[in-house]
Amino acid sequence: MIKTSVQADDIFKHKTGCLILLCPEKNPAGILKKIDDQLNGVITDAFTAKRFEGKLNQTLLQGVGRAMGADAVLVVGLGKTKDITEEQIRQAAGTAAKLAEKSKFQTLSFYLPGGDAGKVSKSHKGKSGDRVAGALAEGAHLALYHFDNYKSVDEENPVNRIQKIVFLAESKAKVNAMQKAVQQAEILAEAVVDTRNLMHHPSNTATPQFLADAAKKIARLPKVTCKVLEKKDMEKLKMGSLLGVARGSHEPPKFIILEYMGGKKNQAPVVIVGKGVTFDTGGISLKPGANMDEMKYDMSGGAVALGVLQAAAGLKLPVNVVGLVPATENMPGGSAIKPGDILTASSGKTIEVLNTDAEGRLILADALVYAQRYKPRALIDLATLTGAVIMALGHVASAVIGTDPALIKKLIQSGTATGERLWELPLYEEYEKAVKSDIADLKNITGPGVGAGTATAAAFLRAFVEDAPWAHLDIAGTAWTSNEKPYVPKGGSGFGVRLLIDYLKTL
Ligand code: BES
Ligand code: MN
Ligand code: ZN
Repeated sequence: MIKTSVQADDIFKHKTGCLILLCPEKNPAGILKKIDDQLNGVITDAFTAKRFEGKLNQTLLQGVGRAMGADAVLVVGLGKTKDITEEQIRQAAGTAAKLAEKSKFQTLSFYLPGGDAGKVSKSHKGKSGDRVAGALAEGAHLALYHFDNYKSVDEENPVNRIQKIVFLAESKAKVNAMQKAVQQAEILAEAVVDTRNLMHHPSNTATPQFLADAAKKIARLPKVTCKVLEKKDMEKLKMGSLLGVARGSHEPPKFIILEYMGGKKNQAPVVIVGKGVTFDTGGISLKPGANMDEMKYDMSGGAVALGVLQAAAGLKLPVNVVGLVPATENMPGGSAIKPGDILTASSGKTIEVLNTDAEGRLILADALVYAQRYKPRALIDLATLTGAVIMALGHVASAVIGTDPALIKKLIQSGTATGERLWELPLYEEYEKAVKSDIADLKNITGPGVGAGTATAAAFLRAFVEDAPWAHLDIAGTAWTSNEKPYVPKGGSGFGVRLLIDYLKTL
C-alpha cells in the first residue's frame, strides 16, 4: 500500500506534488475561495467560462508556479451538495488520484473539505469529518490499484506511481479522529486489493492450493483460524457434488474454512460461502474459446469471502464470521463428469448433471450443506454463477435472491452505501419446480423455455439451504470490470468485500 499520513499544515505552504481540493457544484467558497484569491481567480475564471462547474468527477488541474507550496492544484467536482454521500467522495478522490498519477506527480495531498462538502448526507456510520477522511482514503487507494506482478520493469521508461498521500486536516484537533478513519479505510482497501490480486492471478498460479495458502496467511491475524479439507476429507463428508466437478482436473480440490471469532463465544456466526472455481472451461460441456481466459475469475466469490474475513479481523469487528470456499477447477479431463451423470450431494440429495458448465451450483451445494452445521444467523453466498445476470443487470449491480426479506433489505442498504449495488430477483415456486429432475431429486439446468437463468440457479441452491436466513449474490457481472470506474480500475473489482463489511458493521 502507498504510504499515507494525516497532518495539519498551512495549506498555502504545504509541500506536495499535487494538492487535491473537492468542490461541490457551486462557486468556490471557504478554503477554495481563499486559494482562488491566492491564484488570481483561476478557479472562478474556470467556473465563469464553464470549463469547470463542480460536476461529479469533473477535474481542473492547474499549475501554481511559486504561488503556493504545492506544484499544482487539482480541483475535483463532487456534484450537487444535496447529493453528496461517501460514494461521491470516494469517486472524486479516485478520479483525482488517477489523474494526478497520470500527470506524473508522485505525491498527493487531499485537503479535507469543510463546509458543504464536509457535510456528507446521513448514513449509519460515525461523524461526518471522519467519514469524509475515510471515504477519501478508500477512494484513492482503490483507484490507484495496479496489478503488475507479471510485468518486467522497464528501467528506461518507468511507469509513474504515486508514492505518498497526505490527508490535510483543517486543524490539529481533527488529526486523531481522521487518522483513525484513514487507518480503518486502509485496512478495508488492503483487503479489497488482496481480493483483486487473487482474481487477477492466472489459473496456473491461482490454483485451489493457492487460495488455501492465501487463507492460511489470513489466519495469522488474531482470532482467525483456518482449516483446509482435502479430497479424502470431502469423501468422508460425502461431498459428491463438489468432488464430481473436481474429477475432470489434475489439481486437487480444497475446501477452505476460515473462522474469525470477534464476537461472543456462543454467538451464531454469519457464514459466507464463496464460489472458488479457479478456472471454468465448462468441462465436457466445453465453453466456446472466445474470452475463455476470463474464466480465471470464476473464483471471485471465494476471493471475496477471504477478503471479508481479512477485513473483519483487521478491523476487529465484534462479530463471528465464517468463510467457506469450495475450490476446484472445472476441466474436461478423462475422468470428468459427463452430461447425464448423477451425483449425490452431502445432504443425500441426488443431482442429474445435464450441463457440466453449470458447475458453480454443484460445488456450492456441498458448501451450503456444510454451512448448516454452524447454525448461522445469516448465510450469504457469493458466486460468479450465471451469464444471465449480465443480461439482466449488466455490470452495474449484482442480483440478490434469498429466503429472508430482512437480511436482503440490509444487504441492499449496505450495497447502496458502499456503491456495490444489489437488485433483488424473486424466488418463485415455478423456478424451484424447474430444477426438479425426472430421474433424480434435482437437475443442474432447466429445460428449454424456462428462462430466468439467474433465479433458477438460485432455486437450485435453495434446495441445499435448510432454515438459515439465506441470501445469494450473483456477482458474474460485477466481479470483473471492462470499463473502468472512478475507483475501480479495469479487471477484478473485489465487489462484495466492502458491501459485506458494511453489513457486518450493522450487526
Ligand atoms: N462461471 C459461469 C458463469 C459466468 C459467465 C461467470 C460469465 C462470469 C461471466 C458459470 O459456471 C456458467 O458457466 N454458467 C452457465 C450456466 C448454464 C450452463 C445454465 C451460464 O451462465 O451460461
Ligand atoms: Mn460454468
Ligand atoms: Zn463457473
